[in-house]
Amino acid sequence: MAREFTSVGVVGLGTMGAGIVEVFARNGIDVVAVEISEAALERGRVTLTGSTDRAVAKGKLAEADRDALLSRVNFQVGLDALHSVDLVIEAVPEHLDLKQRIFAELDRVCKPEAILATNTSSLSVTEISVATTRPNQVIGIHFFNPAPVMKLVEVVRTVVTSAEVVADVEALCERLGKVDVTINDRAGFIANALLFGYLNHAVSMFESRYATREDIDAAMKLGCGLPMGPLALMDLIGLDTAYEILDTMYRRGGRDRRHAPVPLIKQMVTAGLLGRKSGRGFYTYERAGSPVVVPDEQTPVASESALADGARGIAKVGVVGSGTMATGIIEVFAKAGYEVVSVTRGAEKSAKVFESVKTSLNKGVVRGKLSEADRDAALGRINWSATLEHLADVDLVVEAVVEELSVKKALFASLDEICKPGVVLATTTSSLPVIDVAMATQRPADVVGLHFFNPAPIMPLIEVVQTIRTSAETTTTAKAVCATLGKTGVVCGDRSGFIVNALLFPYLNDAVKMLEASYSTADDIDYAMKLGCGYPMGPFELLDVVGLDVSLAIQRELYLELREPGFAPAPLLEHLVTAGYLGRKSGRGFRDHTRR
Ligand SMILES: NC(=O)c1ccc[n+]([C@@H]2O[C@H](COP(=O)([O-])OP(=O)(O)OC[C@H]3O[C@@H](n4cnc5c(N)ncnc54)[C@H](O)[C@@H]3O)[C@@H](O)[C@H]2O)c1
Repeated sequence: MAREFTSVGVVGLGTMGAGIVEVFARNGIDVVAVEISEAALERGRVTLTGSTDRAVAKGKLAEADRDALLSRVNFQVGLDALHSVDLVIEAVPEHLDLKQRIFAELDRVCKPEAILATNTSSLSVTEISVATTRPNQVIGIHFFNPAPVMKLVEVVRTVVTSAEVVADVEALCERLGKVDVTINDRAGFIANALLFGYLNHAVSMFESRYATREDIDAAMKLGCGLPMGPLALMDLIGLDTAYEILDTMYRRGGRDRRHAPVPLIKQMVTAGLLGRKSGRGFYTYERAGSPVVVPDEQTPVASESALADGARGIAKVGVVGSGTMATGIIEVFAKAGYEVVSVTRGAEKSAKVFESVKTSLNKGVVRGKLSEADRDAALGRINWSATLEHLADVDLVVEAVVEELSVKKALFASLDEICKPGVVLATTTSSLPVIDVAMATQRPADVVGLHFFNPAPIMPLIEVVQTIRTSAETTTTAKAVCATLGKTGVVCGDRSGFIVNALLFPYLNDAVKMLEASYSTADDIDYAMKLGCGYPMGPFELLDVVGLDVSLAIQRELYLELREPGFAPAPLLEHLVTAGYLGRKSGRGFRDHTRR
């Protein structure tokens, strides 16, 4: 029989603590909510009532239930109020000495059988536990932000936590409607170990002006389906907390440079820019604690028209290639009203592309998203050709041929001969340096990357890659074209992986390394990222979809360009590819897809 928890204590009512109080009180458990001062207690109370009032306003909580919930919470200053609770969760700032002091005090105050839990994200639960005389009753219960929403709880057992305590806490998580993964005490556990390298990397992109905050965040939301971008997430977590987590992970996790906090984070913390909780972090908020972003001096100004910004007029577009990307891109341009010239290597290929575009447009008609007349008009706008000479009068060329530098360079040299002056020449490469392609022409200022995502008709993101030779006019034109396609164009520099792949693949690679180290299972790691961070797919699900060979190739490119030791491809990934386990397309990757 699992232990009954009728009352629990929560210490610290900040970003996490207030949410944790709500989780318990919502599930009928009495809570003693403790803070360090009356002022901090009042802030915690305001956070809790704000959150429950929002739930009532959204129709997710009845008024009577809110009142009952709030009546279960007993707000107190000082730890002495915790003398008779069955379990305490500590959620004070991420400092080992502070947590150890609090645990020593809790050990003195709480009844002998009480379980003492920490919500630490990165500190050693073992080190915290030895500050008490009952380390076997100390455990990590790591909730995710916002605690009332995120389903995941990481239950962290140390080498001395008793099996009974682990089982009791697991049963409690179930009662709270949470999904728990139970793991050993290691820096960052599952989710943060995979998340924080990515967040830090995103901050370094912003710090080095590789892309704007809006573009970095839009790229990860629209390119990967994440619920929020990395910089908005840093603001939600709190920059002070994020700094401490990174710093601890760096020191505890083998001094991986990717966890060394980017200097900007420390500067922002010192300046009091802590994120949402202080009203300003990477973004500016309506007021402290508000989720509503308001414009500030970094907010891009929406201009009257792209032409006013200096964009060139684009009416006729050439698309070179006949693969998946070219086919999707032809459809996107034709649907958006552009006259399109498709150039393939022969009539047979053109016929195939035509059939694919037609089939895809027909699906739109069946789903009621496109009228038959619009479908016919879109098809009518496409001219089919097998000679590049037909691109002499287009305004924009999008190249989507095979991912080989020599082929692309030869093509761009030909385009340079054939195309009229002023044309924008774009490559869809996902891994080659755009500047190499640009320098195959006499007009590198007109060359830009337009990195579409697959499937092009559906994915809302395009990365606009500017080289050191791309003119501002070309970039502006490319961005304006993205907008006319109904897509978001994010501008970034010409570095391996651009924004999305550079941030995504090292994270996937880290997940493989975690599996390889037997820290957790593929299922639990997938759960952790989906339920703890709101990712649409776990890393192993995604790797199997993308293809392990493709993922390995991208990871290798990133490693070769940046020489970052932490980017070295996971040996397990290399072995799986060598063994022919490439993911869904080969029937087996991290999972066996033949038996499902
Ligand atoms: N922010 C996140 O997204 C997140 C997610 C999961 C876990 N965590 C972890 O949760 C813990 C709390 O982080 P946070 O972001 O909520 O921090 P926070 O700064 O928002 O809140 C900490 C609260 O603790 C209070 N406090 C400080 N000393 C105290 C004491 N002696 N007694 C009682 N209360 C005291 C402070 O007044 C403050 O209200 C950290 O260990 C952090 O790593 C944070």
